[in-house]
Amino acid sequence: MFIGIRLVKKKNKYDDYVEFYELVEPIIKTEEYLKRKEFPHHIDESAYDHMMRVAFDCYKIGKRSKMDYKSLTIAAILHDFYEKPWQYQTEKLPLFKQHGFTHAQNAIDNAKKVYGSEVVTKKVESIMKTHMFPLNIKPPTSREGWLLTFIDKVDSIDFILHPVILFKILRKEEIDQERKLTLRKVKNIIKRKNESS
Ligand SMILES: [Fe+2]
Ligand SMILES: [Fe+2]
Repeated sequence: MFIGIRLVKKKNKYDDYVEFYELVEPIIKTEEYLKRKEFPHHIDESAYDHMMRVAFDCYKIGKRSKMDYKSLTIAAILHDFYEKPWQYQTEKLPLFKQHGFTHAQNAIDNAKKVYGSEVVTKKVESIMKTHMFPLNIKPPTSREGWLLTFIDKVDSIDFILHPVILFKILRKEEIDQERKLTLRKVKNIIKRKNESS
């Protein structure tokens, strides 16, 4: 009996990975999505890695809490699907035009352009739209929206509070150096792409 319960638990855990992968696979396999492996997000990690982690946490918690976890997972895997790496923006923009305030809508527009409105449904759009609350002042309108907002922040804080990253933050000089390197890397990638097209 005890062994039987343990086996069922293991099977369910495996099923979660399979279902998660089946949900996100058509999105993450596209050339456009794979480019996010080259988009620096926070220090030393890509937008691809960040979205993958956030989406899996949303999937797990959303499913166990009986939310609309399929819409939530799609919204989470696309929530930072903005068009260009924000580090590449060199022109000085007014505060409300800066990345933090605009990228949620930009991610929705870009996702609709690439995947269409069968993937980016009204529900998916509403979950994505408010993920930067309170920076975007409109709060989430569903449980799924609140969960994405929360997990996205936890993931960022978690990452920033990693001892190695914290050490780098304390040594501001090093971080500035790293930002310059990241920017140079992004510029080179874009330059190479422009040359080959
Ligand atoms: Fe975001
Ligand atoms: Fe994010």
